[in-house]
Amino acid sequence: MAILGDPVGQMIARELISPPPYAEEVLRGLTSRPKTLPFKLFYDHVGSALFEEITALPEYYLSRSELEILREFAGEIAETVGPGNNVVELGSGTAAKTCTLLQALARRQIRVPYFPVDISPAALAEARQRVEQQCPLTSVRPVVADFGNGFGFLRDVPGRRLVLYLGSSIGNFDPEAAIAMLRSVHEELAPGDALLLGTDLIKDASILLPAYDDAQGVTAEFNKNILRRLNRELRANFDLSLFRHLARWNPHSSRMEIYLQCKRPQSVHIRMLQLSVELAAGERIHTENSYKYTLPMVETILCRAGFALQQTWYDSRKWFALHLARA
Ligand code: TRP
Repeated sequence: MAILGDPVGQMIARELISPPPYAEEVLRGLTSRPKTLPFKLFYDHVGSALFEEITALPEYYLSRSELEILREFAGEIAETVGPGNNVVELGSGTAAKTCTLLQALARRQIRVPYFPVDISPAALAEARQRVEQQCPLTSVRPVVADFGNGFGFLRDVPGRRLVLYLGSSIGNFDPEAAIAMLRSVHEELAPGDALLLGTDLIKDASILLPAYDDAQGVTAEFNKNILRRLNRELRANFDLSLFRHLARWNPHSSRMEIYLQCKRPQSVHIRMLQLSVELAAGERIHTENSYKYTLPMVETILCRAGFALQQTWYDSRKWFALHLARA
């Protein structure tokens, strides 16, 4: 305790006990009804690695469908976008799919500055290595950012910009929040700048459900990792064995809903929040939504955010779509 006597010691002590920036959101989520947790918490280094595993699962068609579109149409997309772009990828992760497009762009412009933006520094380090190896004509400038703090970093990207928002990340927002998010991006762009947006499409529940609840249980692990993270970073004591992963298709809201469902009554203490949370048997913590779109829905959100849809590309099954829009 002697450490508390001196100012430097106090500073260190405060460092050690000061809660992470997301603590407030966790507090709000776990004290509301129904209980929720913010989906961005999935993506610590373990979660980012698990998500990478998800993208390779036989049931998770999203990444493969999107990759099919990129492989098939990268040239056409690059042609439609035009030359001279600075490419910014929002939520790049490890940029596993992006190289196909970067290579196509590199055939039409001398140098392709590429700014991968992600919340996970570990994923960004991997993105950089991958892209530098696979697309030597690209210069990689990683940006660590939490989109909760806005898109001001776009102002630091010079010239004409092509913003990539791939995967189904836009689907994690409800439509109003998706519009608000795209509008904030739009505010940082200049007329003529481009957005390439990925959306998953509405399809039969028999295809959707396994994509979010795979046979090997990787998705369940990914979902539960959020609790493991809270145990570690907020000194909580969630008993992971008392939770089951739950995925539901909600056709009225056009979304997959992901929950952690408590099997037995459980009392959880979160030390850094000085919070005790009671969970009843069967009670759910809502961890994510994944909205599935139709083309008119996409047109609506783009238009309301200030973008004009220029062209859409599909995979052969029409399960996924990439949209090019102009600011
Ligand atoms: N954004 C991804 C998606 O909607 C994330 C994701 C995949 C996910 N599987 C999940 C999130 C399971 C929570 C639980 O497809």
